[in-house]
Amino acid sequence: MIYVLNGPNLNRLGTREPEIYGKTTYQDLVDMCESVAEDLGVTVEIRQTNAEHEMIEWLHRAADEGADVVLNAGAWTHYSFAIRDACAMLRGTLIEVHISNVHQREEFRHHSVITGVATGVIAGLGIDGYRLALEHICR
Ligand code: DQA
Repeated sequence: MIYVLNGPNLNRLGTREPEIYGKTTYQDLVDMCESVAEDLGVTVEIRQTNAEHEMIEWLHRAADEGADVVLNAGAWTHYSFAIRDACAMLRGTLIEVHISNVHQREEFRHHSVITGVATGVIAGLGIDGYRLALEHICR
């Protein structure tokens, strides 16, 4: 089982700042991840939440299961020590994904509190980053 976990505002993909995040909807993202997982022969659980406590509970479960995680923590990336601490408990691979190139954007997006506990980071490749993350985990 691989968890693909998405944080705040990612349910708004498609309508949310399309010049930055593209026109792909959250449902398109889910469909793409499911089809990639099928090709790779793995089971994925794809989730999105706007509630930090819910994300933390999902990360605890992934930690207990020793599962691999693809995480786009949205804006929590930049300031949530609680999400980072939950990520630090993971025992599997953790790939941090960002649709946009956060380093080309506002200064506050240049720092991630999660990167220090992640296996690797993919940013700026659009939703293709999720495919690459899943392929890496299954390599
Ligand atoms: C994001 C980048 C974050 O800075 C932003 O807050 C998001 C999305 C991305 O996928 O590019 O919500 O994680």
